[in-house]
Amino acid sequence: MTQEQLVELLNDLSLDEKINQLFQGNGSFFTDKGIATGPAADQGFSELAISLCGSILGADGAEKLKGIQERYMANHPHHIPLIFMADVINGFRTIFPIPLAQGAAFDETVAFEGAVIAAREASAAGLHVTFAPMVDLVRDARWGRVMEAVSEDPYLSSVYADAIVEGFQGQDAKEPGKIGACVKHFAAYSAPVAGRDYNNVELSERTLRDDYMPAYEAAVKAGALLVMTSFNTLNRIPSSANKWLLRDVLRGEWGFDGVVISDWAAVEEVVFQDLAVDKKEAAKLCMEAGTDIDMMTTCYCDCLKELIESGELPVELLDEAVLRVLELKNKLGLFENPFKDASVEDEEKYILCEEHRDAARKACASTFVLLENDGMLPLSKEEKVLFAGPYVDEHGIFGSWSFVNDWSTTVTIKQGVEAKGVTAAYEKGCELLHKGQIILGMDKKYEGTVGKKQTKEMIEQAVEAAKNADKVVLCLGEHRAETGEASSKGELTISKDQIKLLSSIAEVNENITVVLFCGRPLDIRKIKKLAKAIMVVWLPGTEGGNAIADVLYGDAEPTGRLPMSFPYSVGQTPVFYGEFKTGRHFEPTQTENRFQSKYLDIPNAPLYPFGYGRGYTTFEYSDVTIEGDIATTDKVDLTVSVTVTNTGDKKGQEVVQMYIRDDKASVVRPVRMLKGYMKIELEPKESITVLFPITEEDLKFHDINMNYVVEPGTFTVFVGGDSTTDNSAVFEVTEA
Ligand code: BGC
Repeated sequence: MTQEQLVELLNDLSLDEKINQLFQGNGSFFTDKGIATGPAADQGFSELAISLCGSILGADGAEKLKGIQERYMANHPHHIPLIFMADVINGFRTIFPIPLAQGAAFDETVAFEGAVIAAREASAAGLHVTFAPMVDLVRDARWGRVMEAVSEDPYLSSVYADAIVEGFQGQDAKEPGKIGACVKHFAAYSAPVAGRDYNNVELSERTLRDDYMPAYEAAVKAGALLVMTSFNTLNRIPSSANKWLLRDVLRGEWGFDGVVISDWAAVEEVVFQDLAVDKKEAAKLCMEAGTDIDMMTTCYCDCLKELIESGELPVELLDEAVLRVLELKNKLGLFENPFKDASVEDEEKYILCEEHRDAARKACASTFVLLENDGMLPLSKEEKVLFAGPYVDEHGIFGSWSFVNDWSTTVTIKQGVEAKGVTAAYEKGCELLHKGQIILGMDKKYEGTVGKKQTKEMIEQAVEAAKNADKVVLCLGEHRAETGEASSKGELTISKDQIKLLSSIAEVNENITVVLFCGRPLDIRKIKKLAKAIMVVWLPGTEGGNAIADVLYGDAEPTGRLPMSFPYSVGQTPVFYGEFKTGRHFEPTQTENRFQSKYLDIPNAPLYPFGYGRGYTTFEYSDVTIEGDIATTDKVDLTVSVTVTNTGDKKGQEVVQMYIRDDKASVVRPVRMLKGYMKIELEPKESITVLFPITEEDLKFHDINMNYVVEPGTFTVFVGGDSTTDNSAVFEVTEA
């Protein structure tokens, strides 16, 4: 449709039709072929609202969605199509490693390809829009949703934001196999006080703009069609009712002209946050702020009519929001083709097809982070290996938002090892959760049911088997439901039974490799003490077991690097590399000085820093050199160069990382900031010179007057294999 036709359509709509374009309902309101009033009526949604609602979430399947669309449009006075949205996060049915793991790849093409594949499967299943990417900056491992984000670093998160949007949407979301992207959760949802989900967020505007905003902005600039508001208050204002955030920054400064959708029920939550007295006021505030779609509450559908008719809310605000929804439908091509790519044949062709599974398997190895390896890995097929632990034959190795209909489509470690033709021993050793342990809010779905006596026997049996093994691979970790939404934790450890299993086995066999499943950085001090090798595999998804076997037996190399610092203990969180200097810098060698910025009982440094990880070979870096002579405050054009050599005897990959420190500025700057990375592969003894450009964009920040500028002075560039490297050089920027 042309813009003129869209405006004509808008003008032709009744007030009810307009209002309900802004209401997003749920798939459960509809039967495969039409409208079901049962569950919707129970939740207070009127039949009118459902019959006119503009979009629905949480339903999929080509046949089902075609049926719903057909019936809905036939009944709609203007035959306007619905948009089908869902949380297709790290895969649709072919599940890729969780987003945090993808961040560990330090290779945005992994996330790009994952998004391309997810879009192809999801669009075949009739979906039009995904609620992704989530690019909230994650620095607090207590927060359960760190698994859904990319990293603690603004630069890495921004590069990924751009790549993921392009992966989902391609050049044009209308194209076959593409879906619209919705960047979330705007803004700063990831920084709740004390790491507790949905809690309030207090951040200075400078921190917000320098650290938290860049990734959202990158997704917007990449063309994301939607933005989702966050649940939290940001500096005391709920995001869905935050005019400054949505109108001034998002639309005004960044030029976003797409749809803003609330998070689930966030419009009504403005009442519970005590900003509005009732749903009517909540609707008014959120509309004024610029939240176009109300996800799953009756605020807009029940209250907007009265607000408009009484003149409390200008009809122009309604029209502007409705037009944006119509424009979105147009951008998705739904007026011409309301079913878009929904096709039962394509579902069969693409979903879990070999090509997608192969890509997922390959992606996994690039996300696994080898933290320790004292002669344990890779294993040889001739060694007698015991695979033990609750994750040995576990199918639940995918993150939340993975709509895996059939868990058996996920490959376990045991299946992966067996598929290699290796003969090994297997012992579960203990359950993931101890008896009576439940995951709050999940009813008894995941309750631990195996008691102490039986656990003791299981551990003893595993210990016996360990006595006969050359090496033990212990597959431990968090339960998958311990991470994700509403899964904040105050302790960052794995269950006591698993630690008991580890320490019991360590008494009889010291050749232990721990394969660690998790959705967040954990406190792994005990594991570090007892295991000779540790590999973090996150929640790897469909091909996890195959990929782990590939890596353990040396058919692939684990090439991930930590996208978040692993804390020494929970007491350090949030701990991240881009911290600020204090006036009382702590030198661990000068313990006699009491008044330093330190803890009495734990170190300042994390157990493993951001960017850290090993592979199956070793690398050496040359000194850093800087070439070029354009370095003034309005134009910087320099090239950083370093030569990296594979000093080991195996081919391997390295993530070369470049950090910059602004040595002095009008406000205190982070001690260093990632500004470039490159994953390289070298044969034994081979060298390569890696070049990183530096432009003025890499040096800009919000100065004392909140201007986004480069200030003159010296800058230090660090290049190395993780965020602690000292390999550096200095350059100077002069006043333009
Ligand atoms: C989550 C969002 C998600 C939405 C729709 C909310 O609970 O916070 O990330 O997109 O539900 O499923």
